[in-house]
Amino acid sequence: MTSGSVTDARRGNRRIRKAVFPVAGLGTRFLPATKTVPKEMLPIIDKPLIQYAVDEAIEAGCDTLVFVTNRYKHAVADYFDKAYELEQKLERAGKTEQLELVRNVLPPGVRAIFVTQAEALGLGHAVLCARPVIGDEPFAVLLPDDLIWTRGGPGALSQMADLAQAQQASVIAIQDVQRSQTGSYGIVATEDFSGREGRITAIVEKPAPEVAPSTRAVVGRYILSPRIFDLLETTPPGAGGEIQLTDAISQLLREDPVFAYRFRGTRFDCGAHIGLIEATIRYALDHEVLSDAARRVMQNALDELGVTDL
Ligand code: G1P
Repeated sequence: MTSGSVTDARRGNRRIRKAVFPVAGLGTRFLPATKTVPKEMLPIIDKPLIQYAVDEAIEAGCDTLVFVTNRYKHAVADYFDKAYELEQKLERAGKTEQLELVRNVLPPGVRAIFVTQAEALGLGHAVLCARPVIGDEPFAVLLPDDLIWTRGGPGALSQMADLAQAQQASVIAIQDVQRSQTGSYGIVATEDFSGREGRITAIVEKPAPEVAPSTRAVVGRYILSPRIFDLLETTPPGAGGEIQLTDAISQLLREDPVFAYRFRGTRFDCGAHIGLIEATIRYALDHEVLSDAARRVMQNALDELGVTDL
């Protein structure tokens, strides 16, 4: 490889192939369920949250999935492992449809790699744990809590990968939020924002509404230059005493272009109770088999509870 092509690869002159899923969080908001079931395994209809993020990464062209877990997350690794006995039973029983579902958790040609984050030092630290697997190429980060529904259209990461390739840049997903909510998100300021994108000039983690540079909030999808790893190595603890990915990105954008991208789709914050409920309702109402029944039971529930003021 010449030095020119090394630079091109670092900057993103090809489609991303690798995706990082930080899944080492404790999920305390969903206790007691998350006492034994990792929050990434909570289902929306019949798929665990993590599967939605994995499908999105695969659709965007990724074939290497890196899960950053902790020692309590065996269920995530088990889920992506081959289930020999189950597959044999389904095969013998002629249940081909179910067999396909089980096999397609990871389609052929896609591999899962597990990396342990020994201490919960923050999102930036979790991403840094994936460095040995990612190496020197641009990569994606997907936070499975953020479920993005695109109703059969291209997934959010796929949309971002197009922009990353076209601009030879890192790309971060954003959505507009109420000013009162800035304290829950990374917030970006951009040079100019036309259509769906703008080059980021500043990014700050969870600013108070009075000091937030805008109301454009980071959603859990990133395409990053591998340069981020060098920066994460020296990023000190920030908001909440954690090593923040946002702080390393704030350094990155001084050296390299980083774009904010307002994706087409709806994001559900499944890290919160109401987000998980909202996602379940939306997927149920849009489900090819369940939609009529879902509508009916929702109507019944509203009627029986006497809810009239919607
Ligand atoms: C993380 C990021 C934050 C981002 C958010 C999106 O925060 O640090 O910048 O806006 O994800 O979901 P968390 O929600 O993990 O505290």
